[in-house]
Amino acid sequence: MCGIVGYIGHREAYPIVIKGLQRLEYRGYDSAGIALYDGSNLNVCKTKGKVADLKTKSENENITKGSIGIGHTRWATHGVPNDVNSHPHYSNSGNLVIIHNGIIENYDSLRKELISRGYSFKSETDTEVLVNLIEDVQKKENIKLGKAVQIALNQVVGAYAIAVFDKQKPNEIVVARLGSPLAIGIGEEEFFIASDASPFIEFTQKAIYLEDGEMAIIRTGEEVKIRKIQGDKMVDPYVQELQMNLEQIEKGNYDHFMLKEIYEQPRAITDTYRGRMLVDKGIIRMAGVDDNIEKFLNAKRIIVVACGTSWHAGLVAEYIFEEYTRIPVEVEYASEFIYRNPIIYKDDIVIAISQSGETADTMAAIKLAKQNGAFVFGVCNVVGSSISRETHAGAYTHAGPEIGVASTKAFTTQITILSLIALKIAKAKGNISKPDYQHHLSELALIPEKVEKALNSNEHIKQVAEKYMSSANFLYLGRGFNFPVALEGALKLKEISYIHAEGYPAAEMKHGPIALIDEKMPVVVIATKKGHYQKVVSNIEEIKSRKGKIIAIVTEGDENVRNLADYVIEVPDTIEAFTPLLTTIPLQLLSYHIAVMLGKNVDQPRNLAKSVTVE
Ligand code: AGP
Ligand code: GLU
Repeated sequence: MCGIVGYIGHREAYPIVIKGLQRLEYRGYDSAGIALYDGSNLNVCKTKGKVADLKTKSENENITKGSIGIGHTRWATHGVPNDVNSHPHYSNSGNLVIIHNGIIENYDSLRKELISRGYSFKSETDTEVLVNLIEDVQKKENIKLGKAVQIALNQVVGAYAIAVFDKQKPNEIVVARLGSPLAIGIGEEEFFIASDASPFIEFTQKAIYLEDGEMAIIRTGEEVKIRKIQGDKMVDPYVQELQMNLEQIEKGNYDHFMLKEIYEQPRAITDTYRGRMLVDKGIIRMAGVDDNIEKFLNAKRIIVVACGTSWHAGLVAEYIFEEYTRIPVEVEYASEFIYRNPIIYKDDIVIAISQSGETADTMAAIKLAKQNGAFVFGVCNVVGSSISRETHAGAYTHAGPEIGVASTKAFTTQITILSLIALKIAKAKGNISKPDYQHHLSELALIPEKVEKALNSNEHIKQVAEKYMSSANFLYLGRGFNFPVALEGALKLKEISYIHAEGYPAAEMKHGPIALIDEKMPVVVIATKKGHYQKVVSNIEEIKSRKGKIIAIVTEGDENVRNLADYVIEVPDTIEAFTPLLTTIPLQLLSYHIAVMLGKNVDQPRNLAKSVTVE
């Protein structure tokens, strides 16, 4: 995601747009840019880096004048973070400028079509395609900007919140949204545009939040006109009276970024498979895999290198890849891999997983693998990050910036990407029947709503947290696909509440850790119906017979475990391989609430950093 800001009215736009971008910088900070209309010229200043860098550059270049302006702080999805790919983007004529939050999925075909009509492109972004599509429609139909935007958007597949300005009609800004947020601040003879209300909260408490599929023409001296992008029906604007403080808005209505990011997971998972998984057509398309499919099909072994939560996602991937592709998988702590003189073959595939794309241990492992001739595929969340540029190919999770140090949506979107790759290879190898493959795609498309359902246990999980927040230790147990989730749940608790916790394979508990069980030891057991359910129930019985306190994560409707456990937390049923996407949710919430109740700094826990760029 990214941050968009706009202003049209009687004030100088520059300070409002710059400060607004600073407030939205949490939404993305790869690059920033501003466009200002000073009454005769349309001036654009943009730069890789932070909003502070933009401020310096625009003031050095004296691009600060004008009472109409739009600005953007980018979280790149198409095209590395650099000056050229920064927003705003001009159309070829230089008359239009656009800022965009979202993804244009069919940008490649649109770009090819526009090139055939004589358009050229400076950037690698999908956004520059959109502004030239709008210009092409405007010229062909000889129509106003608003209509051109509407017609163009009806040719677009994807997600967007956009603001478009035409210097030939310098008293209006056209905005539209589908899938990305856009708020319009209603002032006295002035209007504000933003991804959330934080950029204009001190100027007005009146806001219109565009609904998906709506667009608006914002003109000074006129009411905001809202219409449907499809069908053109006018929409009565609903002006909300905001009661918000600034701090609250930047985190939405959440107390911490971590909680916000836990709740963003349905959208993050949707954005990650959007444009890659076409359920109706039974297609999974990922350029990084498609272009190297022979390597994947002929791979004798897959080695995963990662750290922390990303390493746990790699462990889930081991179960998924071996189950579906029958390719042996080894999952390595990157920090161990680089120093144990590992055996690496030329036909190995190394998958490097990293949310930040800057983890030094993982980077070092990638370099070692490349030195030994292996093909390295990256799964990163930050476009243009060091790791994404070091690997031979890769796929980005579209989780949006993850601000909380404790990784949450990165974990579930990593598993989503890895599931898509495994299913794609399994189908190409003929390891999965067409109906079964189709069933998997249909079920993966249902995961976001099932995550929503899992999130509904939040209040119940708060009660569990209250009950056990003073425990000195926790055990987390899981089997099969959910063994890595047990490890992840333990890590979440450790890193934000500072309570000691260990994750184990459920059956392994008998080989030592069971000595720890007593009435003071809460044991979180993942006991979903799929997999070795009966075995896990036996493990629960073993714990119960030693007075351990049992918090069970169960498949909704399970009455069996309910009679054994002290607390049960339900998650919807799904295919076994996808259960980690659901069972991790209550564990994230449990650790979050315990940490909050203990008064810990949830978003910036002691001793930790969001990206460990040292070995
Ligand atoms: C997870 O909550 C931690 N923040 C940490 O373990 C993290 O997963 C690890 O440092 C790896 O980071 P990366 O995914 O950015 O490479
Ligand atoms: N897809 C656009 C780009 O990569 C916008 C990304 C964003 O939402 O910041 O520039």
